[in-house]
This record gives sequence, structure tokens and C-alpha cells, in this order.
Amino acid sequence: MTTLTQLPDDYVQNPHAVHDMLRAEGPVREVRMPRGLKVWLVTRYDEAKIALTAPEISKNVVEGGHLMAVHSSDPEQVRRFEPTFSANMLNLDPPDHTRLRKLVTKAFTARRVELLRPRVQEIAAELISKLNDGDEVDLLDVFAFPLPITVICELLGIPIDNRDDFREWSNQLLSFGTPEQVKAAAGSMAAFLFQHVTAIAEAEPNDTFFSALVHADESGDRLNTEELISMAFLLLVAGHETTVNLIGNAVLSLLQNPDQLQVLKDRPELIPASTEEFLRLEGPVNVATFRYTKEALDLGGVTVPAGEILMVSLVAANRDPERYENPDQLDVTRSAQGHVAFGHGIHFCVGAPLARLEFDVAMTQLLARFPNLTLAAEPETLVWRDSTLIRGLHTLPVRLA
Ligand code: HEM
Repeated sequence: MTTLTQLPDDYVQNPHAVHDMLRAEGPVREVRMPRGLKVWLVTRYDEAKIALTAPEISKNVVEGGHLMAVHSSDPEQVRRFEPTFSANMLNLDPPDHTRLRKLVTKAFTARRVELLRPRVQEIAAELISKLNDGDEVDLLDVFAFPLPITVICELLGIPIDNRDDFREWSNQLLSFGTPEQVKAAAGSMAAFLFQHVTAIAEAEPNDTFFSALVHADESGDRLNTEELISMAFLLLVAGHETTVNLIGNAVLSLLQNPDQLQVLKDRPELIPASTEEFLRLEGPVNVATFRYTKEALDLGGVTVPAGEILMVSLVAANRDPERYENPDQLDVTRSAQGHVAFGHGIHFCVGAPLARLEFDVAMTQLLARFPNLTLAAEPETLVWRDSTLIRGLHTLPVRLA
């Protein structure tokens, strides 16, 4: 038997202290999230990997989505799965998951993604050219957000004029907007994506990534309209909500650790490898997405019964002292390989090569052009987004120099 722990209301402001307490108590704890959802939260590294791959676990929201209401103390507050977007690989088990994933993996291999490097460099350079020494800016707004959203919109063939709409919709879908806001955002996004998918389907096929996906893949498999909308939604949201915060969290960590910033300024060739340490220390995905137990699962001696929601904190696992020495310390020279910031097992992030490339380009250009940038706010005034899924700041005010 474990006791139910209520997570504090300000959990998102400092999740690490909460994770340290839970991890010391056991590999997995039954907790009530700030808005009333009861889940089993995994905080240790070894058990996180087991939970992400165990055959007793399912991600099928059609079969398990109702558990959100079952385990909530306030079903009105529960985040519903938007039916229009649910038919995506993140919400499915094999064989459906295997089929959908196979259609996109080819486009995201490290080799294919490397071909995008010149364009990503060009976008980053354009954004940086608009900034000046002495400017005080929200780095998320002027740099960390527009870079990945431009890249993913180009891959999906979506006009760049729509990117601010996407930011707003996706923010409302992933953070805690009111149920009305969430519904409105989902409706607007669905209508836009429906139009987009239809237009591409009616146009002559071309060799862009999304046109190829809409028309057919090499084996002749084709996605139906609902699957295409869900796929575009997943790629758009996963493709920018995460990378923007990886860049933001990394810049904040560097500004709080000037010795580490100096290392990267002196040796910029370390930047690509340091990506893994930034992902480990303050990855942008706190808990992995929805999972539930189809059957009882033993995790490090604790039995999670069937029919429970299982949340795996990737952020907590990556700071497990049993796995990483001085886990709370940024060390850009350490080998952080093996972190679970991109997940683990069959749902391991499809976009990892693209995220790594974007991060490398972003940090290299930012530190080369503004090596003396500083934080333009007291660290304790920075506010983290009200989301248990995404670990990222609302704004990151910096002074450029
Ligand atoms: C720093 C950036 C990123 C991080 C930390 C990240 C993290 C993750 C994680 C943790 C998962 C697995 C979630 C789970 O098992 O519950 C995942 C899945 C996924 N990610 Fe990413 N991601 C990033 C960037 C991207 C990008 C740029 C794309 C696409 C362009 C992308 C597309 C996907 C897709 C399609 C999945 C679903 C894979 C599946 O279900 O098989 N991600 N990501």
C-alpha cells in the first residue's frame, strides 16, 4: 500500500524538489496532481525505462481515455482528449502505431534531417539579424519560438503567416486554459488543418515531405483525412512546443552557470554534444504522455493495479542520483547519454534528430553573435508555464550584448 500524496499547487514552479522527495520514498508514488487527477508518478530512472516499455501498459486513448474522468476529483477540470487529434501515433499501440510511425520515420532520419541544416542556419541567421546589442527582449518570442515553428511549418507546407495563431492554439491546448478556451483552440486548429490537408490532397503531388505523406508512401499506404489531420497536429505541436523550451531552458541554465557558459564560448565545438546535457538537466517534456495499466504492473517492488494512469516523469528520471552524479549540476562536458528526455522504447521521439540539429544551430549562432548576453530579470521572478506536460518558461527576458 502506498499513501496518496497531494502535489503542491506550485508544483510546476519547482518540480525538482517534489521529485526528489517522491524519488526518495519509492520508485513510483500515487499522487494527486494540482488539478485533481490521481495518477501513479514514476520518478526513478530504472523504473521509468521499465514503465515506458512494459507490455502491461497501453497508450490507446480510445480504450483508456475514460480513466481521466474516473481518477479525477473534479472531472470538470480534466483535460479531454480532442477527438479530432486523437488518431495519432502517440495515442496508439501496435499495430496501428507501427503503421503510422513507419510513414514518417524515413523523413526524420539523422541523414535526411542533416540536409535541412543550411535552411535552419538561414532561418536562425535571419532572426538574429533583426536583433541588436543592448536590446532587451523575450528570447523565447524573438528567437527560440520562431526558429522551430518556421522549420516545421515549412516541412508541412503551412504558410508562415499562420504561425502566431498556432502558438496561441497550441499554448491553450497544452497548458491549462479554461475548458471553453481549449475547445475554441481545438476547433480553430482542426478547421485550419482540415483546410490545409484538403488543399494539399487536391493539388498536384510534389516532392515536399507533407505532400508525399498526403498522397501515398512508397509501399502505397495512405492516411485517411482524420489520420492526416492528427499527424499534422502532432508534428506541429511536438515540433515546436518542445524545441523552443529546450533552447529557453538551456539559455537560462547557462546564464545561471557562467563558468559553463564560458566553456561553450571558448569551445563552441562542444555545443552539439552538450545538447544531451541540456536535455538531461532541464528537458522540455516533464511527464511522458498518457499511459495506463491494462494489467497490474510491478515497478521496483510496488504494484500498480490495472486501470490506473501511469505518468513517467522524464525530468525526474534524468535527475536520479543513482544514474547521474551531481544530477542537479550543469556540466556541459559530461556524457549525459542514456537520458530519457526523448522518451524510450517504441514511442521514442521521431523528431530527435531535428531537435538536436535545431538546438545546435540555435546555440551556435546565439553565442557567437551575443556572447555576453545576460538575464534581464531576477531569476526568482521567472514564471514557468502552468503545464505538467511541458517544462518551459512563459518568457525569458535577456539583455543582448
Ligand atoms: C527538444 C525537442 C523534443 C523533445 C524533448 C521531444 C520529446 C518527445 C518525447 C518524450 C516523446 C515520447 C512521449 C511518450 O512516450 O509519451 C516524443 C514523441 C514524439 N515526438 Fe518529440 N520531442 C522533441 C522534438 C520533436 C520534434 C522536432 C518533432 C517533429 C518534428 C517531434 C515529433 C515527435 C513525434 C511524432 C512523437 C511520437 C512518436 C511515437 O509515438 O512513436 N518531436 N517526443
